[in-house]
Amino acid sequence: MHSGRIGDADQSAAEAVHEDLNQLIRQHSEWLAAQLHSQRENLFPPDAAKMMRKFTSGEAASLLGVNDSYLRKLHLDGKGPSPELTPGNRRLYSVQDMLDLRHLLEKTARKAGDYLPGRRDGDHMQIIGVMNFKGGSGKTTTSAHLAQRLALKGYRVLAIDLDPQASMTALHGVQPELDLQDGGTLYDAIRYEDPAPIASVIRKTYIPNLDLIPGNLELMEFEHETPRALAQGQAGLFFFRVKDALAQVDDDYDVVVIDCPPQLGFLTMSALSAATGVLVTIHPEMLDVMSMSQFLRMTADLMDVIAESGADMSHDWMRYVLTRYEPSDAPQNRIVAFLRTMYGEKVLNAQMLKSTAISDAGLTKQTLYEVERSAFTRSTYDRAIESLNAVNDEIAELIQQTWGRK
Ligand SMILES: Nc1ncnc2c1ncn2[C@@H]1O[C@H](COP(=O)(O)OP(=O)(O)OP(=O)(O)O)[C@@H](O)[C@H]1O
Ligand SMILES: [Mg+2]
Repeated sequence: MHSGRIGDADQSAAEAVHEDLNQLIRQHSEWLAAQLHSQRENLFPPDAAKMMRKFTSGEAASLLGVNDSYLRKLHLDGKGPSPELTPGNRRLYSVQDMLDLRHLLEKTARKAGDYLPGRRDGDHMQIIGVMNFKGGSGKTTTSAHLAQRLALKGYRVLAIDLDPQASMTALHGVQPELDLQDGGTLYDAIRYEDPAPIASVIRKTYIPNLDLIPGNLELMEFEHETPRALAQGQAGLFFFRVKDALAQVDDDYDVVVIDCPPQLGFLTMSALSAATGVLVTIHPEMLDVMSMSQFLRMTADLMDVIAESGADMSHDWMRYVLTRYEPSDAPQNRIVAFLRTMYGEKVLNAQMLKSTAISDAGLTKQTLYEVERSAFTRSTYDRAIESLNAVNDEIAELIQQTWGRK
């Protein structure tokens, strides 16, 4: 046993370690930055804009909800957009082609909204907050795939990155530290002093029908400024700043998807107050579920405070979505069963399976929807995409129900 007393020699040794650690960490940070920089230069040369791949006729038919033979007939009859023909005479459709087809098909649809499922007169814009303060619970993966799937299905979508870490931003080809040097995040539109119109921070993406408000570290300002504004009595209803900003573009979108940071700060509270639908991501492991209990209690407490100031805390729906789920893992299955028993229909039936296809796509800053099927073993790709589609389509169904359709 040590005596507990640190001698002079020990102390200077401790300082030496301390200094070394500073240097070591700085050195590691520099290595990492340099490596990431060169990796990015390789993957995304500075002037290369990200592009969306084209879809096979089978994929296009499935997204549109028609038979491939019908799509082929339209093409042969010269109706609608002309797909690209491969040397093997296979047809490839761009997202814009599919959108044009939607408009064409909707004209003669059996039921209104079969091909353009977005809002109609009287339907309100859906604002979906994806949250959980547990880091790595799959918020960004869920948000990005949901936003892209809805856009591919013909909804007009706005994705908002509310996380200063800006993962969803990077996933969409915007480099937070290079492309956003003069602002350009939602912070510009929600700050207390001289807020900018939200339209000024909305960008088009490489997917028609999907716009993005990127994020970066500047969003942290909102966390710092809100207490100050509150103390000075200038914050007003701070928790409605996101909602009020979104009201400016209410006519332009069917669905807004907000990727929240992994903490319950003012940004998340504002997203929660704006949301008409809330998705809580859960990785079904014991530690995650334990921390979720705290997350839920703190959220409820904070919402009580907001409700006391007269705000309406009602929402259209709230669901838990199981993420990175491994059906072969017995402990995970016990937790899933436990959650389903406890929360019933509030847990989405579909679950996002853990898949190397999803994480590998993420490594090259892509969603699985952006990757060609040929990039992976077919069964791996199919299993992952089926699980993603099932989750996203269940959410689309909730949206439709909110609008009084099913
Ligand atoms: N279904 C999945 N299969 C495999 N890997 C996944 C899956 N979902 C997410 N991941 C990986 O897990 C990691 C964390 O996911 P993600 O970034 O979506 O979580 P997050 O909740 O947004 O994290 P943070 O709290 O840091 O914002 C990422 O590396 C992602 O690629
Ligand atoms: Mg994230």
